[in-house]
Amino acid sequence: MLIRDYTAADAAPTLAVFEDAIRRTARSRYSAEQVEAWLGGPRDLAPWNAARLRVRTFVADDAGTVAGFTDLDDAGYVDRLFVSPDHGRRGVGRALLEHVLVTADALGLPELTTHASLVARPVFERAGFHVVHEETVRRGAVELTRFHMRRPSDAAAPTSP
Ligand SMILES: CC(C)(COP(=O)(O)OP(=O)(O)OC[C@H]1O[C@@H](n2cnc3c(N)ncnc32)[C@H](O)[C@@H]1OP(=O)(O)O)[C@@H](O)C(=O)NCCC(=O)NCCS
Repeated sequence: MLIRDYTAADAAPTLAVFEDAIRRTARSRYSAEQVEAWLGGPRDLAPWNAARLRVRTFVADDAGTVAGFTDLDDAGYVDRLFVSPDHGRRGVGRALLEHVLVTADALGLPELTTHASLVARPVFERAGFHVVHEETVRRGAVELTRFHMRRPSDAAAPTSP
């Protein structure tokens, strides 16, 4: 599994991973209604690609197939962490976060933050993040639980599952 920088050619496969991960994997912890609210309807590829290019976006590449992706902005915020359900529970999420940690270290970022889903919380915890507080976010009329999480740069190294 290679972790590499995102390029525009990854727009369609990363969008497919995003939609699949929410529809199939996140569905284990969220209702069908919550999943649809999270997806928020079809997305155009051009703005999706532009948003990925605005921050550092990293792709997990399994012999040419996009298995997952994550990102890191200049303030240390990790906005996305999504792994294809076909590659789930094999350490891809963990490998992507380890790449984020190494990058953040090289940039000298004092802390990392994220908003993690119910499914992603344990993956972030294993990478040294802790919950600051639980939040309820509204997508239209639907409410979703997520966790504001933080990882100081001197947090302990990632732990094994
Ligand atoms: C969260 C996510 C990125 C983890 O990717 P991954 O490659 O499976 O992660 P790892 O293999 O490193 O870690 C696996 C852990 O993720 C969680 N997980 C993964 N798939 C899961 C599923 N289908 N149901 C419940 N938990 C799951 C579990 O904690 C699992 O640990 P376990 O196998 O010991 O129970 C991936 O499950 C995903 O894309 N989820 C849906 C989208 C989402 O919630 N993204 C985060 C937005 S903040």
